Amino acid sequence: MKKIAIAGLGTVGGGVARLLTDNRKVLMNNTGEEITLGAVLVRSIKTDSEYAHLMTTDFSDIENDPSISIVVEAIGGVDAPFEIACRALKAGKAFITANKALVAEKGDILHALAKENNVPFLFEAACGGGMPIIRPIRTCLTSTDINYVYGILNATSNFILSEMDKGSTYDEAVKEAQVRGYAEADPSADVDGIDSVRKLSIILSMITGKKASPDDIRTVGITKLKDTCGGRVKLLARACINDGKVCAEVSPVLLPEGDVLTCVPSDRNGIVVRGAGSMETAYFGVGAGAIPTASAILADVVEAVKRPEYSGECAWTGEKLVISPWQDDSLPEYRS
Ligand code: NAP
Ligand code: HSE
Repeated sequence: MKKIAIAGLGTVGGGVARLLTDNRKVLMNNTGEEITLGAVLVRSIKTDSEYAHLMTTDFSDIENDPSISIVVEAIGGVDAPFEIACRALKAGKAFITANKALVAEKGDILHALAKENNVPFLFEAACGGGMPIIRPIRTCLTSTDINYVYGILNATSNFILSEMDKGSTYDEAVKEAQVRGYAEADPSADVDGIDSVRKLSIILSMITGKKASPDDIRTVGITKLKDTCGGRVKLLARACINDGKVCAEVSPVLLPEGDVLTCVPSDRNGIVVRGAGSMETAYFGVGAGAIPTASAILADVVEAVKRPEYSGECAWTGEKLVISPWQDDSLPEYRS
């Protein structure tokens, strides 16, 4: 039997707790182990919660419990999650997170700590909710030089653009994204492109092995958009890696007619990854929301149960990645 702890029982943490019960059988089939919830870290105990008996406000209870081997963080922000991550990894527990702010800012340090303590550090849900992209880069694409990525990496802004296209006002669409649990605690992170640029920087760090800072990538959000051009304007995160030179940008872009990403509606995310050998591969999925995100997190839990050591593919160091402004003419040439 494996016991996990969840830190933060909001949209995502609540989804993980629920799916752990609902998907008990499939998790057991895929790991050969029963996976149960051992503890929940909260800010205040809610006595009427079905998880009240598992709640603690003190992370030491989890840190010092040898029966808990995996910590899932779903709090948000950087400082408290970083402290939890360091303590969990040093205590020899796998650390799994959906927190792109944390991974973008501290991923290099967490990789080093995970390696030192030989435990998994996994974050599939941090770059597109239910859309697989971290694991494909970490496994399927490890034999090819990735030289171009472009994608829709924020569900809230894509949902807003889709709703505006159907006639909603910007404000109505933002409210609905919040009600559905897609938006960040501060939705300006979504609509200003900050969430997308954090995800792009994680992907770039994985591809290059160096730390890509979101601050080094020009970022424009969707707040000033007046026209969605029939759904062809998307908040695009793109990067080109050519002969060791990297350029990147997040901005609203009018996609060419027929581009695969024009078919990514509503809360979906989509990303195209081109490798020198693999050519184009594309990924698509629900980019936010409790259950799709929890599904990605639990796939990491399955990996941590089956492979309880640090794996290290596509890890990055603290060496700074130099990123230039986006230039269309720096796109690599491809075989047709
Ligand atoms: P949320 O609904 O606001 O949930 C966060 C939870 O963490 C709240 O229950 C909050 O408790 C709790 N919390 C805050 N500080 C805490 C602390 N120090 N100790 C223990 N619990 C604490 O946020 P969310 O949407 O689930 O997002 C969580 C993380 O997942 C974020 O990093 C986000 O970027 C990421 N994510 C979200 C989605 C999504 O669709 N929502 C998808 C992918 C990734 P209180 O109620 O007391 O404030
Ligand atoms: N706020 C994020 C989004 C959550 O809308 O995409 C998923 O990362």
